Amino acid sequence: MEELIRADNLTKEFPVQKSFVDLLLAGYKRQVVHAVDNISFNIMKGEVLGLAGESGSGKSTTGRLLLRLIEPTSGTILYKGRDITSFSTREMERLRERIQIVFQDPNSSLNPRMSVGAAIAHPLQIHKIGNSREQKGMVLSLMEKVGLTPADFLYKKYPHQISGGQSQRVVLARALITNPEFIVADEPIAMADVSVRALILELMKKLKSEFNLTYLFITHDLATAKYLCDRIAVMYLGRIVEMGSRDELFLHPHHPYTKALLEAVPIPDPRQRRREEVVRGEIPSAIEPPPGCHFHPRCSHAISKCKSHRPPLREITPRHLSACILDG
Ligand SMILES: Nc1ncnc2c1ncn2[C@@H]1O[C@H](COP(=O)(O)OP(=O)(O)OP(=O)(O)O)[C@@H](O)[C@H]1O
Ligand SMILES: [Mg+2]
Repeated sequence: MEELIRADNLTKEFPVQKSFVDLLLAGYKRQVVHAVDNISFNIMKGEVLGLAGESGSGKSTTGRLLLRLIEPTSGTILYKGRDITSFSTREMERLRERIQIVFQDPNSSLNPRMSVGAAIAHPLQIHKIGNSREQKGMVLSLMEKVGLTPADFLYKKYPHQISGGQSQRVVLARALITNPEFIVADEPIAMADVSVRALILELMKKLKSEFNLTYLFITHDLATAKYLCDRIAVMYLGRIVEMGSRDELFLHPHHPYTKALLEAVPIPDPRQRRREEVVRGEIPSAIEPPPGCHFHPRCSHAISKCKSHRPPLREITPRHLSACILDG
């Protein structure tokens, strides 16, 4: 299998905006949010890599970095072996046809004054693909494929005139219209009704094989990742703590954080109750994350070495990596 994307030692720090008083009190100390902290991974062509973890773990930041919607503080991103962090604006423009993002909230990512047809056609106009008649034909045919039917009827509708599930399909169609090969799906079903979620996931699976797509699928919910992903990376406070095939991760989870997340996956049988609090305590601040292993204050297995040593992400069985010093 061919490697499509590779991130090497990717890091993103956001400066913390402070008031004048805060600056005085903090003694002008420059503070940063460690949103993504030196992570490396790759995605093979045709693969679905899941990125899972609690809120604030750096999943969206990672997705945005891969598409260069934000610039990394350090590290490289290779797309088909070429370092896109050094691409010119022109080269990036051309690449944007091939790499797209789908956000979680269709309502805020759709312009209320743009009809469904115009919204889906918009990227074609940006990238100057086809004339208006050709564009309309492409949009109508794609609308059929994503289940926006009758396409002729829905083409003229505005976002407030269609359902939440249909809006999410519009967002997907808009991402697919330029025939991309890589899609970052950032919690694409998080805002959808429960009844719609399964349909959208199924649709994403169908579109993936039909359009030969590769996905980075971002989710805080491992149950969803299980359905769609070939491989899953678990993030905690900006770092990847475990990564492996879906089956390996679900059958043989290694990292205490992954184990805790798996215990939080709802059990379909209502007679079986799950433990109330799965991971102890709140996720700490990404401004001053705990030293050593970020997870140690919440980990029931922590030993004193965990407070001072950053555990490396290392292979424990072929292609299954974990970052816990207790693995060794
Ligand atoms: N533009 C920004 N400026 C400052 N801090 C930011 C910015 N974007 C993200 N952050 C911070 O970076 C960290 C990671 O955020 P990110 O949005 O990547 O997390 P996430 O895993 O996607 O969370 P969620 O599940 O809530 O979407 C958080 O602490 C967040 O507050
Ligand atoms: Mg996010």
